[in-house]
Amino acid sequence: MTAILEALQADITTLQLDAIVNAANPSLLGGGGVDGAIHRAAGPELVSECRGLGGCDTGDARLTGGYRLPARHVIHTVGPVWRGGGAGEPELLASCYRRSLEVADAHGLRSVAFPCISTGLYGYPAAAAANVAVTTVRQTAARLDGIGRVLFCCFSPEDLRIYQRLLQVE
Ligand code: AR6
Repeated sequence: MTAILEALQADITTLQLDAIVNAANPSLLGGGGVDGAIHRAAGPELVSECRGLGGCDTGDARLTGGYRLPARHVIHTVGPVWRGGGAGEPELLASCYRRSLEVADAHGLRSVAFPCISTGLYGYPAAAAANVAVTTVRQTAARLDGIGRVLFCCFSPEDLRIYQRLLQVE
């Protein structure tokens, strides 16, 4: 089955899906940006569960419950900090998208929304990051039969335009 890939402009904490992805840091104990928004909306039970996970490496992903979020689960992934592009950032960012979908699929979760990982505080240029995101999700969803729908949840109209252009190209 081919997964449906879509872009939208929204606050990811409002989406009612099997899972939303969090752009976390290696501690998994919360932070600013989308991480802060997800923890605020989910409530304090989320950080309690995260404490038991013992952190997460850059490029990897971990699953928790969604608690007070409309989404059933949160997949926490840790994007790379942008250091100019020669420090393995594209591979690590691709790994975030791939591992998040693998974790979702392994738990029977079919619909997943991603924020624009690494493009806020971590400084990854938006267009280059979107290219990695769309390419990796297309490749990964094609081999994971259980993934039915992937949303690229953009916070800004500029990001939405970048994703809409990429998704038009087959
Ligand atoms: N819904 C959707 N997207 C959002 C939301 C939201 N509610 N809030 C922000 N964004 P960032 P990073 C967008 O900085 O670059 C944290 O402190 C934002 O506009 O959240 O991966 C972590 O703990 C941007 O496009 O994540 C880490 O320390 C995108 O989400 C660090 O920031 C990612 O921006 C991770 O940095």
